[in-house]
Formats: sequence, structure tokens, C-alpha cells
Amino acid sequence: MQKKIKVLSIFGTRPEAIKMAPVIKELEKTQNMHSIVCVTAQHRQMLDQVLELFNIKPDFDLNIMKPNQNLWELTAEILLQTKNIFEQVKPDLVLVHGDTTSALASSLSAFYAKIPVGHIEAGLRTFDKYYPFPEEINRIIADYISDFHFAPTKAAVDNLLKAGIKENNIYLTGNTVIDALLHTIENYKPCPEKINIDNNLKTILVTAHRRENFGEPLKNICQALSELIERNNNIQIVFPVHLNPNVREIVYAILGNLKRVYLIEPLDYAPFAHQMKQAYIILTDSGGVQEEAPSLGKPVLVLREETERPEAIECGTVQLVGHNKEKIIALTEELLHNEQIYKKRTSVKNPYGDGFAAKRIVEIIGSKLEAN
Ligand code: UD1
Ligand code: UDP
Repeated sequence: MQKKIKVLSIFGTRPEAIKMAPVIKELEKTQNMHSIVCVTAQHRQMLDQVLELFNIKPDFDLNIMKPNQNLWELTAEILLQTKNIFEQVKPDLVLVHGDTTSALASSLSAFYAKIPVGHIEAGLRTFDKYYPFPEEINRIIADYISDFHFAPTKAAVDNLLKAGIKENNIYLTGNTVIDALLHTIENYKPCPEKINIDNNLKTILVTAHRRENFGEPLKNICQALSELIERNNNIQIVFPVHLNPNVREIVYAILGNLKRVYLIEPLDYAPFAHQMKQAYIILTDSGGVQEEAPSLGKPVLVLREETERPEAIECGTVQLVGHNKEKIIALTEELLHNEQIYKKRTSVKNPYGDGFAAKRIVEIIGSKLEAN
């Protein structure tokens, strides 16, 4: 009987789950692969939403999330618990994704166990150690540890080459988020609306969660939203609020009681994807949302000062706005009131992928790792 390649995928947050799901589904249907899934559950509710949607049943669940957790405990807990799992599973390859603490600690742990690592969404950089924090350093470390670098774009390939990663270990695959998005939009109908939005108003969809925006920057962002509602009676704001308490406290304090502002719980991925489709403009500090929006032809204002995703800015859909209140108001109103500019910004050419990234990744794994 042919022996299978044992691939252990480890992830823990909502965006990693969305972006790893297409890879896991592809591994499951590939004959010479044995897919094993370990979730750290760095996120709990927001991870489970995605696992359920894509019907992923983890073989291991580290269940580590604590309210308002800190980076030290999170990292240490993942390091210790994955050691036991490696001893039990003895995988041929560990797959990690992106730049979370789950990705950093799992790749480091695999390195200590001398197990090869594949890094999906490798090569993203801002070249600023504290921005985003701690993600820039997380992904640099994961990249140096990894043996296979699955880069989403040409710019990511170039960053890896500049970092001294060997060319024959880098693979340009596209971003698996596009696989997940296209599959979800096609296979899931919009759910019956839980929120009573007015279809005659323009919807601004907002998400925010970055650590470097906690405190004053997030307050500025919320105050800008509050003023936008006051100044424009033809708009409404839909804001699924991330479960991080550092986000919720500020968002509910400033926007909690405003007319035409709908603060809701994080949406399941399918309704969120349809909500993006319905939105007129998206304001976000999310990485994944910036990558998805160009496929849906939605202009995005990015609530960050720097980006590791320059491609969508170059193609015109995405604009970097930062967290200055006046700038957020001015650039949102420009999109609301200037149809010509709006139209220019609704490109549907997506620089991040074509929906086949997961297939490429699994084919590369199969061709490079012979079952032994
Ligand atoms: C994490 C990642 C970030 C990623 C983001 C995606 C790190 C350091 N940060 O940030 O890179 O962009 O996820 O959303 O890896 N919480 C819940 N339930 C959940 C999820 C979170 O209650 O399902 C609350 C908990 O109180 C938890 C807190 O949010 O302690 C923070 O979660 P954590 O994963 O540490 O940070 P995020 O800000 O979510
Ligand atoms: N998302 C979701 N429900 C929401 C908000 C976002 O399913 O209420 C999805 C979104 O479409 C994207 C991913 O979550 O695929 C982004 O996650 P997040 O912004 O938390 O993390 P980041 O991408 O910034 O790491």
C-alpha cells in the first residue's frame, strides 16, 4: 500500500482558518496526502464559526484562548502543547499561515522538533518592526524557519529574495483567501438579514482590530465615523465588532447610541462576504478584507499608516488613510460624493489570486515531498 504524506496544518485565528480552509479541503481530496488539523484556538468563537462553515473537524484542539490574553502566555502555551503533538503525530510537514502568534509559535516549535515547515502567505513586509505589531516580526521569523515559502504575489516573492531566502524554495501561488471567497460567494446565499438596514441608504461597512490602533487611533477612527453619520444623512454604518475587549470598549463607548450605526457581533464568513458585496464603501484595518474587496469591486479605505499589501493600492481599489479623523472624513466623503472617483476605484481585477492557490500549494507539496 502507498504510504501517504502526513501534513499537519496548525492555525488558530479567524483569518488563518478562512485562508487555510481551501488548503485543507484540497489535502483531504488528494490521494497521497494524509491531512491532520491542529487548532490552537487562539480565537475561540470566531474560529469555530469558520470551522463549521467549511466543515473542518480538528484532530487536535489546544483550546488556549483566554479573555484579553497576552502574547507571552499565548506563545509559551502553543510552544509547549505543539511539542506533544509533534511527538504523537510525527508529521512529514507542518503548514502554518501568515503572521499570527499561532504561526510564529507553531513554526518555531516545528523547527525545534526538526520538522519541515511550509509557510502560506509568506513574504509580506512593511519593513517596520512595530507595524503591524507583533505581526511583522512573526512573519519574518516564520519565513526564516520555513522550508517551503508559498508567496501570494510577485512583491512577496521579491521580499523573500531580498531576505536571502533561496529562490528554489519560493513558490508564487496567489492568496488562498480568494479561493475561500469565491467558493463562499458561489455556494452560500446571503442569510436572512439579522440587522434592519435601510436599502435606500449607502452602507459603509467597517471592521477594526489591529493592536497598534488600540487607544487614541481607534478613538479617532470612531469619532470620524460618528461625524460622518452626523454630516451625511444618506449613509448607514454596519460595524461587526471584533471580540477583542480592547476594541469593544472604545467602539461601544463612542458609537453605541448613534442613529444609523449598527454595531453587531462578528458575522459568520458567508454573511460577511455578502455584506461586503452589498456595501458601498469598506473602511477597515483588516488584512484579509483588503485582499477580498477588489474581487467584489468595492473601494476600501485602509485605517492603517503602513501596509504590507501594496498591490491593491496600485490597482486602485484600496487607499491608505491611516487614523487621522479629518483625513478619514475627507476621503470617505470624496467617495460618497464624487461618482467619477468612485467608479475609478471599483476595479474587479484582483491582484491577490485567481481561486486556484490551494491547488497549486498542494501540488507543490506532493511533488516535493515523496511519501516515504
Ligand atoms: C489576532 C492576531 C492578529 C490577527 C487577528 C485576526 C496575534 C498576535 N494577533 O489578533 O494578527 O490579525 O487575530 O482577527 O496573533 N476574543 C474572543 N473570542 C474570539 C476571538 C478573540 O473573545 O473568538 C477576544 C479574547 O478576549 C482574546 C482577545 O479577543 O483574548 C484577543 O485575541 P488575540 O488572538 O490575542 O488577538 P486579536 O486582536 O484577535
Ligand atoms: N470576517 C468575517 N466576519 C466578520 C469580519 C471579517 O468573516 O465579521 C472575515 C473577512 O472576510 C476576512 C477575515 O475575516 O476574510 C479577516 O479577519 P480579520 O480582519 O479578523 O483579520 P486579518 O485579516 O486582519 O488578519
